[in-house]
Amino acid sequence: MKYRTFMKTGERISLLGFGTMRLPIVDSDFSNIDEAEAIRMIRSAIDSGVNYVDTAYMYHNGFSEVVTGKALKDGYREKVFLADKMPVWFAKTEQDIEKIFNEQLKRLDVDCIDMYLVHNITGPIWNRVKKFNTLAFLEKKKAEGKIKHIGFSFHDEYPLFEEVIKAYPWDFCQIQLNFMDADFQAGVKGLKLAGSMNIPVVIMEPLKGGKLTDKLPESIQAYWDQAPVKRTPAEWALRWVADFPEVLTILSGMSTREQVEENIRIMNEADPNSLSEKELEIVAKVSGEYNSLIQYSCTGCKYCMPCPVNVNIPETIGYYNDWFLFDGNPKISADFNMWISPKARPSLCVGCKACEGHCPQQLPISEVMKKAATLFEA
Ligand SMILES: NC(=O)c1ccc[n+]([C@@H]2O[C@H](COP(=O)([O-])OP(=O)(O)OC[C@H]3O[C@@H](n4cnc5c(N)ncnc54)[C@H](OP(=O)(O)O)[C@@H]3O)[C@@H](O)[C@H]2O)c1
Repeated sequence: MKYRTFMKTGERISLLGFGTMRLPIVDSDFSNIDEAEAIRMIRSAIDSGVNYVDTAYMYHNGFSEVVTGKALKDGYREKVFLADKMPVWFAKTEQDIEKIFNEQLKRLDVDCIDMYLVHNITGPIWNRVKKFNTLAFLEKKKAEGKIKHIGFSFHDEYPLFEEVIKAYPWDFCQIQLNFMDADFQAGVKGLKLAGSMNIPVVIMEPLKGGKLTDKLPESIQAYWDQAPVKRTPAEWALRWVADFPEVLTILSGMSTREQVEENIRIMNEADPNSLSEKELEIVAKVSGEYNSLIQYSCTGCKYCMPCPVNVNIPETIGYYNDWFLFDGNPKISADFNMWISPKARPSLCVGCKACEGHCPQQLPISEVMKKAATLFEA
């Protein structure tokens, strides 16, 4: 495993971090984590050198924190930097911030969280962070030894990223970055800004939630086939992110043992500034092709859920995008009808937009639901 240095303290952090937002589940139930398998996967990653594990209050409806805590028993806690996040949007009062934090320590069954982030900063969330004096609270917890490093994760436009990163002496930050999103949200520009301020950057969604590895359109495969080196799509995407020296660690939300093994292999070999000009050119062509095909840039993070009328928003957007990626293949519509229950279809959307305020990609979800209903249900 390659390691990068957390400059402030000299601590060494593995280039691959384990994101626990997409753990294996039972019966397609997001709250029902296959606990034994998830614990095996997390521990085997740690045994292979991964020393950064990222969870959050809302992942798997709260069960990610619980299972992560269990995985870190038996001596594993001491081997990792544990990351968790404050979802201020769940807080109705300033006191709720402390309640949520204490609940997290309890769920994880730990005394201290090494890397603690203000979760999912967007304009409205940043206002709430200030309104509830969240940073003063986190400093108090740092002084008490319950937090080691304070950071933020970000999902809004670049100007807000610049405002937020300059507003506080952050220990680190976390941004979405993959080769399709080089100019999206904080993007490469934000990564470089953080680097120039000596603020280490943790990367999330390096495979765009798995979209860059799944069911490749023919035109994309043709570009990969032209490459001078043969790599899997996951390897191309992770190597592209690892090529930036400003990156501290890359979180991937692995859902199978094979993915853990492959990503460890990739991160055993990835050095900064190691991709050739020709290789970067091919990645840029693939990125351009994807961006021309995809309609809505959903990463499947499920922040939009639960929907008040139970529409399965992330999968509906997935099928909608696939329709355009795969040239209207009727199999997509058949799959939609097979896998999306009649009780979770987009025609049920009432346009309340409760989901839109939580979407890290700021997608016009209610508009997409209407289009998907017309496409698949009419
Ligand atoms: N702070 C925030 O606001 C925020 C937001 C989003 C994520 N995060 C954190 O960042 C982590 C990383 O984001 P992410 O989960 O979206 O990462 P990602 O690496 O972009 O996507 C993970 C998905 O990619 C697929 N995958 C992983 N390795 C693969 C491989 N070797 N070959 C083929 N497919 C592979 C899997 O999809 P399948 O399961 O479909 O096979 C997996 O579920 C999350 O787990 C979470 O901890 C934080």
